[in-house]
Amino acid sequence: MLSSVRIAGRRVAVRGAAARSCNAIRAASTWDNVPQGPPQLTVARPKAILGITEAFKADSFKEKINLGVGAYRDDQGKPYVLPSVRTAEDQVIAAKLNKEYAGITGVPEFTKAAAVLAYGEGSDALDRLVITQSISGTGALRIGGAFFARFFPSKKIYIPTPSWANHAAVFKDCGMEVEKYRYYNKDTIGLDFEGMVADIKAAPKGSLFLLHACAHNPTGVDPTPEQWKEISDAVKAGEHFAFFDMAYQGFASGDTNKDAFPVRHFIEQGHNVALAQSFAKNMGLYGERVGAFSIVCENADEKKRVDSQVKILVRPLYSNPPVHGARIASQILNDPALNKQWLGEVKGMADRIIEMRALLKKNLEDLGSKHDWSHITSQIGMFAYTGLTPEQMDKLAKEHSVYATKDGRISVAGITTGNVKRLAEAIHAVKP
Ligand SMILES: Cc1ncc(COP(=O)(O)O)c(C=O)c1O
Repeated sequence: MLSSVRIAGRRVAVRGAAARSCNAIRAASTWDNVPQGPPQLTVARPKAILGITEAFKADSFKEKINLGVGAYRDDQGKPYVLPSVRTAEDQVIAAKLNKEYAGITGVPEFTKAAAVLAYGEGSDALDRLVITQSISGTGALRIGGAFFARFFPSKKIYIPTPSWANHAAVFKDCGMEVEKYRYYNKDTIGLDFEGMVADIKAAPKGSLFLLHACAHNPTGVDPTPEQWKEISDAVKAGEHFAFFDMAYQGFASGDTNKDAFPVRHFIEQGHNVALAQSFAKNMGLYGERVGAFSIVCENADEKKRVDSQVKILVRPLYSNPPVHGARIASQILNDPALNKQWLGEVKGMADRIIEMRALLKKNLEDLGSKHDWSHITSQIGMFAYTGLTPEQMDKLAKEHSVYATKDGRISVAGITTGNVKRLAEAIHAVKP
């Protein structure tokens, strides 16, 4: 019985293969015309970073160092789930909530609290903003891009040089034209403030500018509060519109209020901004995809109209966002004790990053390095632009088993008290 079933099964399989080979003669595959995409777009992370991960894995040296990761690591080099997130998740599960759909704009308790976190308690923007939950920061940028493509008078968006690699991809995919403004000065390894302000001033009246609110990725170079004030003035003089990307609130300085300064200052100065928020880094909710997109409107009538269009835009994209991560974030933002604990943990992550920057600089100086490494500590957030050349980065990988992107960017999150000395020695060796 069993064997006859197997024989019958084999006959069907043979017939299937024969039919497929017949089809192959008759017609080409439906997808023959699909071209191979460039590698960096076919994977979740840019090719340069994937290349590093692969090379790092293949390296058998025990003390190898991976500084390519864009996620926080603890001092043992391990991924970190915040204790406040663990507690909030336990509470969400214990509440045995149903799994019904959220509304188009997500979990209201979450978006309300996310807006307060960004704009500040008592901000007059809170009453006139439209906010929707998003698939983390990328999703927020995407909703923003789609909204601007539909309703902003110009279809051009200005982004800094350099910027997070996905910015241009997201906006181009939304049908926007991407233009660059000056931001990083490779000679000073700092901000090209004059260039930035000059480009804002030179842009056609009413242009759209994407601004990194804090912890600029990839350079780690942020304007000072005084410089932000001048940037705000230049944006206002040009009647431009600011779209803030705030992917690292709290993660930069350790203080969520301090990091939100540019957004809040712009609001105080009368700008009606748009904002993309991510809870990937500051809550470590990377894969839960928790974020928000908001637009500050002029008045209640405008808010009603914009809100209706944001819903029209989101509905055919994904209907409504996932609830689990937003419930965790909501629990943390709305429960005073948990909120206090979380703010302490955010500060803990930021402080570890700041400490590793200082340790790396000190170790380089202790080795007698003649170079000025002050940019390592003046930059902020997860990433540091070392100023090392592609050749020096290559040497770091090949001769010292230290892996990071060729542009000289290192993820400070990958530095630990255990590897910082060896890292400094390796950098000193490639840049004596
Ligand atoms: C500047 C910037 N914006 C947005 C994001 C979006 O991240 P996510 O979609 O994971 O929230 C990132 C992540 O690295 C980033 O660096």
